[in-house]
Amino acid sequence: MIFSRIAGTGGFVPGTPVTNQDLVNRGVDTSDEWVSERTGIRARHLVSEGVTTSQLAIEAARRALDAAGLTAADIDLVIVATTTPDMVFPSTACLVQNALGMPSGAAAFDLQAVCSGFVYALTVADKFIRSGSHKRALVIGAESLSRILDWSDRGTCVLFGDGAGAVVLIADETPGILASALHADGSQTGILSVSGQISGGSVVGCPFIRMDGTAVFKFAVRVLSEVALEVLEQAALPLEQLDWLIPHQANIRIMQATAKKLGLSADRVVVTVDRHGNTSSASVPLALDVAVRDGRIKPGQTVLLEGVGGGFTWGAVLLRY
Ligand code: ACO
Repeated sequence: MIFSRIAGTGGFVPGTPVTNQDLVNRGVDTSDEWVSERTGIRARHLVSEGVTTSQLAIEAARRALDAAGLTAADIDLVIVATTTPDMVFPSTACLVQNALGMPSGAAAFDLQAVCSGFVYALTVADKFIRSGSHKRALVIGAESLSRILDWSDRGTCVLFGDGAGAVVLIADETPGILASALHADGSQTGILSVSGQISGGSVVGCPFIRMDGTAVFKFAVRVLSEVALEVLEQAALPLEQLDWLIPHQANIRIMQATAKKLGLSADRVVVTVDRHGNTSSASVPLALDVAVRDGRIKPGQTVLLEGVGGGFTWGAVLLRY
């Protein structure tokens, strides 16, 4: 039997941290107290003018390849989960493939599932590898979300950040990914969207994130606990044997409420939202990379990755690291 397992992780955030107070100093009508109490966010990283999503993705990918002890030439599949691609086309994945000097012929494509993007992309890559068609995949979540923030909307602009996370997923005889589940409910478009589109040479509709925060909060807590139980059941793994939960890093209160609903103690939840904000598809692989590099996640441990976001989309991957 062929399985897939993570051979290396990488993460990259641009520039220096921008604190809540920095946002106040830049003219956002908010306070450190309001943001940190309601969301757990203390700082985020933001791209400077001209820095693109693919540049963040390339840095994270290089670090993941180094950690895996592989080179770009070893990769035969690139999937980039992103909501903020450099261009309408070509895909960000093709830009990454070219910049890393990968051989032409490797498959490369972007995947759009907003904040669930990385969990979707990892599930897709796992299925490619287990089918036998591909052997070594680079799976990336990368965003420059600050490009689609309305800095006059304090209800959204304080929540998000920019960054990228990546993993190298390889074929192996030992199972790494144990179970996965993906879901969507397209009837929830209205609670979180960027509704604008490019048409006739300009943006038609709203080019910024619009969100009903309360509706998003309730939806996220419900589906994150449901999908966690779904993958644990698929793998017949009791909750007590789960070492780490890495939920989408949107908001500390969503993560705490999910852990409470599951009956999981808070010290088994990896939290990076305090320093990264919500980086959408980059949030889960960035948090995974932080916890691997600081030694919390050790080989052989079980890790549950969870995404939820616009669409609405949600999903989970249970793996042995
Ligand atoms: N600073 C100061 N005051 C603010 C800010 C801000 N940044 N934003 C809103 N307020 C004010 C509002 O204007 C309102 O004032 P009013 O009472 O005078 O009208 C007051 O704070 C309360 O606003 P609410 O929206 O009711 O605040 P709430 O306590 O619900 O918190 C929040 C808002 C943090 C967005 C919450 O709804 C939430 O966590 N939702 C989840 C959303 C989320 O995490 N989205 C991420 C994207 S989706 C995803 O990744 C899954």
